[in-house]
Amino acid sequence: MIGLAFFTLSFIAFLLYFLVIPTINYFRDPKGLRKFPQLSIWSGISDIPYLRASQRGFRSHTVLEAHKNHPVLRIGPNSLSYRDVRAIKDIYGHGTTCIKDQFYVEVGGPHAHLADVIDKSEHARKRKVLSNAYAVKNLEEWEYKVSDMTDRLIKAFDGFCTSPLKEGALPDNSDLTVEYCMWSNLFTIAAIANIGLSEDIRFLENGDDLITSEKMDGVTKKYTSESWSYDWFKTLARIRKVVSSSYRKMWRLSDDWSGVVYNRATTRMKRYEDGEKLDDFFSVLMNDKNGNPYNLEWGEIVSEISIMMNAGSDTTAIAANATLYLLLKNPNCLQKLRDGVASVLDPDETVAAYDKVRHLPYLRACIDETLRLYPPVSMNLPRRTPPEGATILDDFIAGDTSVSISAYVVHRNPAVFPEPETYRPEHWLGEAGKELQPYFVAFSAGARGCIGRNISYLKQTVLLASLVNRFEFALPSPDWKPTIRETTNLNSGPMPLKIWRRDASVACA
Ligand code: HEM
Repeated sequence: MIGLAFFTLSFIAFLLYFLVIPTINYFRDPKGLRKFPQLSIWSGISDIPYLRASQRGFRSHTVLEAHKNHPVLRIGPNSLSYRDVRAIKDIYGHGTTCIKDQFYVEVGGPHAHLADVIDKSEHARKRKVLSNAYAVKNLEEWEYKVSDMTDRLIKAFDGFCTSPLKEGALPDNSDLTVEYCMWSNLFTIAAIANIGLSEDIRFLENGDDLITSEKMDGVTKKYTSESWSYDWFKTLARIRKVVSSSYRKMWRLSDDWSGVVYNRATTRMKRYEDGEKLDDFFSVLMNDKNGNPYNLEWGEIVSEISIMMNAGSDTTAIAANATLYLLLKNPNCLQKLRDGVASVLDPDETVAAYDKVRHLPYLRACIDETLRLYPPVSMNLPRRTPPEGATILDDFIAGDTSVSISAYVVHRNPAVFPEPETYRPEHWLGEAGKELQPYFVAFSAGARGCIGRNISYLKQTVLLASLVNRFEFALPSPDWKPTIRETTNLNSGPMPLKIWRRDASVACA
């Protein structure tokens, strides 16, 4: 009897909380959001349609389709998505009054890092300390680390080379010796571990990502990724951990990845305490230019290392993977790129010197055009209007409303990018390219824009120039497409490639 009463009361509470109150609020409409078209007819009373779109694996595409005739879309009871490029300035620009949404607290750890801290003054404090660590001047000093990893990747690829593909032929399955998605991940992690912590994790020699993960109590175990961390609201995560074994597995991987970061951080701290002088991100995080210690808390140090290693690896790997894919699909662009690279490199130069290729406009344009079509951070990045409300697209939006833009959606606005699905690096050349810059939001914009973009360009530029100069690649077939599994990022599945040396005189393995 008590059981039945408890069940009935719980059911009523559930209905009230999830259905009745949201429906009443929808009709009361205190924020005036009912005038906006919706992602689904339920989006005014529940976030479930948006979560369902996420769960189906390609949320940004669903949002894009729903946006086709609507510059503003209600994607949840308290959330608006924008497609109009003019909204970028209002939501993310330097003068915006919006702040990062509560979402970042929900997905963040106990110590907020630069990317998920919400409070503006706390963010400014962190950004001041970290801008020194991420400064462009460090890049010149760290270039040799990226060159070293590129050299190791090339050595590995040399070993996978096959004989040249005959014109018009399809590669044999046995010739698809390079899974580029995996290798670009190994490359970017190995490079960022070296830049960040002077760690040589030897992923590129070993061809896998087996590494030690450590819990706070010092217990260690071996970790291999299989997939990258999947972020979502904690409450939802708790429910899904109970009901879904695959989801439990993803969270275990994510926890283990945090353990990897913790293990690398404790190892690096020990070297620091032992007085080893190393040239890396960690050193710049510990002391200012004059050698005075910042005295950051240990938790803050670990969380900044964690965001540097997370944001610094898979985003760049996604971009590197997508650029090669798009160039293979667009051989004219690939040829033009190769001509530009060959014009500045010495004939026997294996790893492209950054200084020689960094200013090649077409190389940068190929990378930026990839970031337009496949922005690695593709999700709607949520910001919250201040309590007094804000003006977005000349329209007043009430306070504490979540407003956002997906780079995937805004980069496909045909008013700005005609034929938006076509890969056209020429978009980014010359004066016309400069004029498009305010609408290029792969790295977001304003005070919360990406602080690591220069490190990413360094890695992408050296890698791409070196690979296309030395190797020829072929996809499994002309109509081959990558599978997309979007989380926060636009992850793609494996990309098997046939590889051979461009220099026909070099014998194959
Ligand atoms: C293609 C590569 C990359 C892309 C597309 C990218 C994109 C982004 C985006 C969209 C944001 C804003 C996120 C938000 O508003 O929630 C961001 C922030 C950030 N990124 Fe990147 N990123 C890339 C590479 C990197 C690298 C290599 C690093 C570090 C080594 C890095 C570190 C960060 C950090 C620390 C922030 C937070 C900045 C702040 O809030 O002040 N990113 N990035």
